[in-house]
Amino acid sequence: MAATQFATSDEEALILASVRDLVAEKVAPRAAEIDDSGEFPWDIKQLFAQNDLLGIPIPVEYGGLGGTFVTYVKVVEEVAKACASSSLIVAVQELGMLPIMIAGSDEQKRRFLPKIASGEHLAAYALTEVSSGSDALGSMKTRAVRKGDSYALTGQKIWITNGSVADVVCVFAVTDPEAGSRGVSAFVVEKGMPGFTVGKKEKKMGIRGSPTNELIFDDCEVPAVNRLGEEGEGFKIAMRVLDKSRPGIAAQALGIAAGALDYATNYAKDRVAFGKPIGQHQGVGFMLADMKADVEAARLLLYEAARRCDEGASDVTLWAAMAKLKCGDVAMSVTTDAVQILGGFGYSTEYPVERMMRDAKITQIYEGTQQIQRLVISRALVGKGK
Ligand code: CAA
Repeated sequence: MAATQFATSDEEALILASVRDLVAEKVAPRAAEIDDSGEFPWDIKQLFAQNDLLGIPIPVEYGGLGGTFVTYVKVVEEVAKACASSSLIVAVQELGMLPIMIAGSDEQKRRFLPKIASGEHLAAYALTEVSSGSDALGSMKTRAVRKGDSYALTGQKIWITNGSVADVVCVFAVTDPEAGSRGVSAFVVEKGMPGFTVGKKEKKMGIRGSPTNELIFDDCEVPAVNRLGEEGEGFKIAMRVLDKSRPGIAAQALGIAAGALDYATNYAKDRVAFGKPIGQHQGVGFMLADMKADVEAARLLLYEAARRCDEGASDVTLWAAMAKLKCGDVAMSVTTDAVQILGGFGYSTEYPVERMMRDAKITQIYEGTQQIQRLVISRALVGKGK
């Protein structure tokens, strides 16, 4: 009873079939170990690179697969069914390259995207700061000051996924403190630029195979040719990126939920209590029924959001937020119920569902908390007001 995933083209069907095989043979057997060690799985990154999974929506002319966002989210989902940390390798490569795809010049796209698409370079996205998480604009402190042909960046970013392994980081910094939303600019900072260092690594509840770091910029000299878009366009670029990356996190959440549902269903068919499989006791059977309905509903919402990204629809902000909200909440409730269905075994690290539950939690927090998604959705309905 695998959760239902349908392909929209022959090409997509081929990609998904090959991803399913890769996940079953190479990713699933590594998932517990990756979680336990807390180390970035370079072997899995290499596997994804060799199979062209790190640049799915990057146009062919810039070295990518030229695939759709729909295909991309289905790939993230498929990987996340077995290993949330590994799915983030695909999703954050996407997040990190989106500022370049959205706002880069042709020259910048040619310079950065082919190496990201091939996996030679890993990418990251640096928006969050110590006092600026949800309030990404109002509390941003990192400064970029123009000095001739370059900018000097000074400040600190935190919670940066891929921080320690990324070769290119899209960084958002204030260029004009008086200009509000038009006072932020976006830059590509490259590993090794003087003044750029990676700080502490967070110890986390879940997604433990995905490094999350502090990044420090101390008078870091970034050439002006690495600025994306015009000065002052950075905040809008950051928001437009999140519109396209939130479906990736929704896909991760959905995959975690679908993986937990499959595991709990199989367990409920095998485990016997009071003379029959526990799934045939109404208490457990109805839990599974709700889990299944939630996963399928979340999936339809996500695929619709991704379809709208492909279409360039004017309401992607709303749909991306709805998909992230619903899939994140479904991931949390379904994994919690999966642990419950397995009982004591569910609580043991010998079974995967406790890891899935720990991994699910972050999908309600990063790329905008569930509270921020509700804010975005309600503003789309009734406006922001004063
Ligand atoms: N597209 C284009 N422009 C947008 C936009 C969008 N989706 N959303 C907002 N803007 C524009 C607005 O039109 C406005 O422009 P003007 O000033 O010209 O009118 C400007 O941006 C400011 O917008 P708001 O007034 O709406 O800004 P706000 O301060 O009220 O905040 C917010 C908006 C939605 C709360 C935003 O701050 C937000 O999304 N916060 C959450 C941040 C977030 O998601 N962080 C995640 C970090 S990445 C991460 O987690 C990755 C990882 O580890 C894997």
